[in-house]
Amino acid sequence: MSTNSPARQHTVPDHHGRRHATANPPVAFVGTGRMGGPMAANLALAGFDVRVWNRTADRAALLTDVGAAVAPTPAEAVRGAGILVTMLADGPATEQAATGPDGFLADAPGLVWVQMATVGADWTARLGRTATRHGVTFVDAPVSGSEGPARAGQLIVLASGPDEMRNVLAPVFGALGRATVWLGPAGAGTSAKLVLNNWLVDLAETTAETLSFARRLGLDPTAIVDLLQSTPLGSPYAMQKATTMLTGDFTPAFALKHALKDAELAVRAAQASGTELALTEALLPRWRDAAAQHADDDLAAVYTAS
Ligand SMILES: NC(=O)c1ccc[n+]([C@@H]2O[C@H](COP(=O)([O-])OP(=O)(O)OC[C@H]3O[C@@H](n4cnc5c(N)ncnc54)[C@H](OP(=O)(O)O)[C@@H]3O)[C@@H](O)[C@H]2O)c1
Repeated sequence: MSTNSPARQHTVPDHHGRRHATANPPVAFVGTGRMGGPMAANLALAGFDVRVWNRTADRAALLTDVGAAVAPTPAEAVRGAGILVTMLADGPATEQAATGPDGFLADAPGLVWVQMATVGADWTARLGRTATRHGVTFVDAPVSGSEGPARAGQLIVLASGPDEMRNVLAPVFGALGRATVWLGPAGAGTSAKLVLNNWLVDLAETTAETLSFARRLGLDPTAIVDLLQSTPLGSPYAMQKATTMLTGDFTPAFALKHALKDAELAVRAAQASGTELALTEALLPRWRDAAAQHADDDLAAVYTAS
């Protein structure tokens, strides 16, 4: 493995604050939001020497409880690290952290950069080219699963990139998820993520429409959920979202703004490949309306617009 880590002893703290040697390489983690926070925590709890950076420092500071160190800039986060994970909101935020002031690519030759946010096909290609120009190995590895699976270390990693990274990254992915699927060259992970999230947004939309349709026909939507649940038609994900829609508690697991981003990224990737995603294109105006009020709420808030 090629890293830019210095020859030093890496340590992690125990419950009494005493530090013990660990054989794992240091890992930098940029973006400790709803997903990145628990992911970085799981790496620290698995024994990695973790250094985090987040734009809002308070959100990163919470991770000192599990032994992570907080860096003041993305560049400082990768100093001495062998592996970097990014879990920022989107492509522009990731590029800014990479090549903006104090960006993590400023001086990181030999680094392995694992990009795990959902940034879409065009941004993945662009970030990969930027990494190569800086002598950095780029792995495209978005995840399936939201905040609960992220906390439980039960994500599914949709990995893609150089074959020789499989063994290098197995311990990292093992700490984050319950399965890793290697899909091919960098870009394939993002393609799979867009396909999965296209399914997810269509399912959420049809769930919202179904409940609304039932209500307008004078039916009790809860009874329809019970009915669906008693047949193979009621997928666990759709039923969970249906319950959230009916309770009206839109505490976010997956923010509507990010789900809308993914729907738009899927439509763009489909158009570039000559495919039409008629269902997803049709839901976009309604989701944009819902996002005007509920951007930071759970995507179940699309029910308010149906
Ligand atoms: N939530 C899910 O269920 C889920 C599942 C799979 C994949 N994803 C994807 O994972 C990524 C992160 O999602 P999340 O749910 O963790 O989102 P989130 O809680 O909104 O966190 C977003 C992160 O990006 C940072 N950020 C946003 N704009 C930035 C900017 N301009 N410059 C620097 N940092 C910026 C935020 O920093 P601040 O703390 O300073 O705002 C935060 O660290 C997204 O691409 C999302 O689509 C989400």
